[in-house]
Amino acid sequence: MQVVRELDVVKEIIRDLKNKGMTVGFVPTMGFLHEGHLSLVRTAKSENDFVVISIFVNPLQFGVGEDFERYPRDLERDRELADSAGCDLIFVPAAKDMYPPGYATFVDVDRLTEGLCGASRPGHFRGVTTVVAKLFNLVSPHKAYFGQKDAQQALVLKKMVQDLNMDLDLFILPTVREADGLAMSSRNKYLNSGEREEAPVLYKSLLLARELVARGERDPLIIGKNMEDLICSARGAVVDYLEIVDTEELKPLKSIKGRCLVAVAVKFGTTRLIDNIFVEV
Ligand code: PAF
Repeated sequence: MQVVRELDVVKEIIRDLKNKGMTVGFVPTMGFLHEGHLSLVRTAKSENDFVVISIFVNPLQFGVGEDFERYPRDLERDRELADSAGCDLIFVPAAKDMYPPGYATFVDVDRLTEGLCGASRPGHFRGVTTVVAKLFNLVSPHKAYFGQKDAQQALVLKKMVQDLNMDLDLFILPTVREADGLAMSSRNKYLNSGEREEAPVLYKSLLLARELVARGERDPLIIGKNMEDLICSARGAVVDYLEIVDTEELKPLKSIKGRCLVAVAVKFGTTRLIDNIFVEV
């Protein structure tokens, strides 16, 4: 497995592979890999001849006062994990090469980025779509893989690919969870032991929503209230948002109908966790 830092080198390697008729799968990440990332890599490996992971803690998607500086970084650990999952190349660009002095071009997806994490983290999705568009141009994969845990990101990126006629297929794979239901995330590392014990409350609240819908409840306000009560029973949990939205425009629903996305963001101290689940009637 190769580790490549230079932008023109990765482009050249991919060009050569494609000239030989090989297919390329791509898993963009910010590193500190966990089983969620590795499941994407394994799927990519089963569907493509060559798999690239990018590791880039993208400064553009972090707001002022967010965790850019302390975001966990451990390339040696990532290298071993990526290799074990079948990755062929890790692309680790430097920020100075991704955003050289004078950099001036950004990608914005309207509407879909207004609510949920977009409301709590202004500018976040502009950073995500800009870096992913750049990474797609550099790696030019046939297929790219993302996790459902970042449901809004997944939808925003799908829209970008569609609207900008990007020549690749994007796949969203299920959230991978710890045994107690906590969605895997590099940010789980920030939790102290007390917070880690309480954190599965996000998934429990989502399961509660599903159960209430199964029992016939159709009012998002009532479901939301029950979820909030449960989350607030966890020590130190502060709800950032808790919404039931449609799966296309991510607009809050007045009544549960068809397929809906239940999404939560909860803070434990300075750590913000997100999770989501689909419900269907
Ligand atoms: O989901 C992430 O890890 C990041 O948002 C992504 C897609 C790699 C862009 O930096």
